[in-house]
Amino acid sequence: MKPARILFVCLGNICRSPLAEGILRHVAGDGLVDVDSAGTGGWHIGDPPDRRSIAVARKHGIDIAGQRCRKVQAGDFEAFDLIFAMDRSNLAHLRALAPPEVQHKLHLFLDYTLGTTRDVPDPYYEGPEGFETVYNMLFEGCTSLTGRLDERS
Ligand code: 4NP
Repeated sequence: MKPARILFVCLGNICRSPLAEGILRHVAGDGLVDVDSAGTGGWHIGDPPDRRSIAVARKHGIDIAGQRCRKVQAGDFEAFDLIFAMDRSNLAHLRALAPPEVQHKLHLFLDYTLGTTRDVPDPYYEGPEGFETVYNMLFEGCTSLTGRLDERS
């Protein structure tokens, strides 16, 4: 089976979604997923992830330092099979951008993976513990997602 094409979306594409991208690539391994991330906002285009996301990933053995920020673009709705919003605000933004025929690809990440309508909270104004909390939520979601994708293949 072809790898599932998965896009993670948050606001800035420097804290949550690049971390989710790195975690899923790490947990799922090669072949199962083709993963990317993007932001609904464009303030940080071309930047590496926030140093606190790089640090928490590194602490858990994952290197995300080479990833670069980009903004969501119209072609993403065609190019990806599953598009995961980190929070309900990101999801509302995506729903407004996406044409009707691809709305089924859009999901709140923790709703799809863990069956809970909780947001992955924006840690931008938090300390390192906020990033650790986000890491743990993303790791749990990505582990569950990997199990589901494995069943499919
Ligand atoms: P993210 O966090 O959406 O998890 O990447 C943010 C990063 C930057 C900003 C907002 C949220 N910002 O306003 O610059």
